[in-house]
Amino acid sequence: MNPSSQQNFWKKFTKTNWEKAPLLLQDSASALQEIKEDQIFSMLVEYSNQCRKLKSPQGFKLFVEGQLQYAEDLLQFLPVKKDKSFLGYHTRMEKYFSDYCLVCDELLQVSQENRKPLQQFTENLFSHVGFPNRFVEMGLYLGNYKKTPFGVHVDGCGVFSFPVVGKKTFRLWTPKFVEKNPALNRAHNYSKFKKHSQVLEARPGDMTYWPSSAWHIAESDGSFSATWSLGIWVDRSHFDVILEALGPLLQKTLGLHGETKVTGQKNGQKSDKKKSLHSRDGQVVDLPQNFQETILKIESLSKNQLYDAFLKSWLELSSKQGFKTFPRQTPRNKISLDSVIQTSSLKSILWSKNKSKNRISCAFQGTVLELPPSHEMLRLIKDLNLGKKCRISDYLGLSKNKKDLASIQILADAGAFS
Ligand SMILES: [Fe+2]
Repeated sequence: MNPSSQQNFWKKFTKTNWEKAPLLLQDSASALQEIKEDQIFSMLVEYSNQCRKLKSPQGFKLFVEGQLQYAEDLLQFLPVKKDKSFLGYHTRMEKYFSDYCLVCDELLQVSQENRKPLQQFTENLFSHVGFPNRFVEMGLYLGNYKKTPFGVHVDGCGVFSFPVVGKKTFRLWTPKFVEKNPALNRAHNYSKFKKHSQVLEARPGDMTYWPSSAWHIAESDGSFSATWSLGIWVDRSHFDVILEALGPLLQKTLGLHGETKVTGQKNGQKSDKKKSLHSRDGQVVDLPQNFQETILKIESLSKNQLYDAFLKSWLELSSKQGFKTFPRQTPRNKISLDSVIQTSSLKSILWSKNKSKNRISCAFQGTVLELPPSHEMLRLIKDLNLGKKCRISDYLGLSKNKKDLASIQILADAGAFS
């Protein structure tokens, strides 16, 4: 898809489909179609290898005949390089199971090779619909299961699906219909509701989307399929974001006052009967002392302090580029003034000036740092973001801020430099 038809697609998608209506796009020319079956299989093997190394199948679920298997039994059934392909893996699995479904929702952890098309897709999406307040995760469903093991269900996420092997059939119902027909919730037998459903049938090369409110189940005739997906979690409200952003600021502003364990009078003071907090007829005439003090403390907050609290929250969210997780970083050697560092073209270190204090905030993949203002450090960050290879001593050699090197180490540990 050329850039202008891509923009048209996203405009139309935003207007017609986003959080509104399902979509089946046949032979979709999205950037994500660059990610082929063998690459998804390699990602799955790489993540399986990580799990075997850590002796934990976290991120995987295996259902056999619709029953969730114990995690401790799972490692032996994960894909290995020797399987060579999804079909190779299936040949091994079908010897044991006539109906199995393997789910993995942590493919982002091994997405380094496919970062570019993933980011291109999500950047386009977010530039039209906004950043999800929760995150995007990359999942995979494979097997010869006839129906999604947990029946008809709804998730907190809108889903883009990309079949890579076999045909995939999704059956969807609107939230309104399920509200009137609650028997559909977790149903495995739903024949009488079929005529009210919408069916999306997708093959490799196609893309489907359904909004977060769509109830759905996958169906198959028992032949093998493998489908990966991007789940756009939209179950976190702006209100939740605000509460989380204000928490640390309120904690700092209230100090010990926020630790008070009783309400009604100042600690250590005897109650004053004349100042009863409610009248004889039950009317509460005033707030207890500590609430009144709280009001004074909150009133003392400035607009700039609120700005900085929200800035931190936004830097954390936007520096993750909406993703839930990132590929694991191999530990980097200790950074010194002689180190030469560079960031990948897909990764920027975000930065901004704080308004309530003389500090710079910078962020990388969800790690947010506050730095003393330093022209040298800012020059370094800007050059790194322009893709330059930077010898740290060329920037910080004259810096009086000893903390700068420690900050660069934190960014290095977060995986900012290649
Ligand atoms: Fe689902």
